[in-house]
Amino acid sequence: EKGGYEHFMLKEIFEQPRSILDSMRGRLELESGHLNMAGFRAYEQKFVNAHRIIIVACGTSWHAGLVAEYLIEDLARIPVEVEYASEFRYRNPVISERDIVIAISQSGETADTLAALELAKSKGATIFGICNVVGSSIARATDAGAYTHAGPEIGVASTKAFTAQVTVLALLAMCIGQRRGTLSDTKLRELMVELHSIPTKVEKALKLDAEIQRISETFKDVPNFLYLGRGYNFPVALEGALKLKEISYIHAEGYPAAEMKHGPIALIDENMPVVVIATRDSSYEKVVSNIQEVKARKGRIIAVVTEGDTTIPAMAEFVVEVPYTSEVLVPLVSVIPLQLLSYHIAVMRGCNVDQPRNLAKSVTVE
Ligand code: F6R
Repeated sequence: EKGGYEHFMLKEIFEQPRSILDSMRGRLELESGHLNMAGFRAYEQKFVNAHRIIIVACGTSWHAGLVAEYLIEDLARIPVEVEYASEFRYRNPVISERDIVIAISQSGETADTLAALELAKSKGATIFGICNVVGSSIARATDAGAYTHAGPEIGVASTKAFTAQVTVLALLAMCIGQRRGTLSDTKLRELMVELHSIPTKVEKALKLDAEIQRISETFKDVPNFLYLGRGYNFPVALEGALKLKEISYIHAEGYPAAEMKHGPIALIDENMPVVVIATRDSSYEKVVSNIQEVKARKGRIIAVVTEGDTTIPAMAEFVVEVPYTSEVLVPLVSVIPLQLLSYHIAVMRGCNVDQPRNLAKSVTVE
């Protein structure tokens, strides 16, 4: 059942080229240049006229929501707010009929996410769901939606569900942008070609496995980790830190790289591993300066860079290279080495990676 892998988590990490492809199959048609999302089409006008999009989710799905904030604001120019479902529902939030609420949930059973969307629904908002489990409670409570086709996710730590969510959210942002005229045909075409090539690039990133295993050996006994990223890689930093803490029980924090100087920089010394996601994109130069700040305080840098980078290897203790992709799709590739890092460290520490202590696959309590 684990298909020859030692754990479900590793199997699911390696399934990602396939699960990403399955999540865009029939939706992205490169030959004809068409995007087909039935759930979107039914509510096209609502999306076009939306004043605001509110995303509600928990955990890893909330991180996918953060990526979607960047995607939708960038490509479709609608203001987006990303909310922890548990905070949103208890806050007397301001919601109207002109709002669209997107609920993101792998299991489709997360109690807080379900309650948050029910609240928004009662105030007249349109509810769009991004779920993995067909017929789940959240899927049934929405007005429309688009399933991720990641297949069953057994490992408690979410991996392939995250990349499937980001894939579907990228498609959705492209659909809205096209319909609102905020995304030019040329740019749309470019992104379609790029998204189409993501499974191959993820395949390539997975080849880092042995290298990451070696890096994991060096850091398996540390008590703390810091993860830094900017822009589209900020949510990836949060996700990398969450993966590490939940399965290896190492304390880890994800931070927007520029926020480091407002506090967390005080933590950095020669014992602090700092994972920096520093791919070639519009914040690259800024991230390079952040790496210098860490290096000046003797932090141990593990950098995720774009293939062919010549600057960062001279500064970092360890460098892993991922294939180049468009900035807006980069989380799909840059998260892969972080998933592998958390997996290997957890295995080396003797942790039960598929069923970490205190955690359940779906959180049906509030
Ligand atoms: C992290 C993880 C949890 C879930 C969260 C939401 O690896 O598995 O943080 O992401 O409990 O679950 P869903 O997506 O099922 O609503």
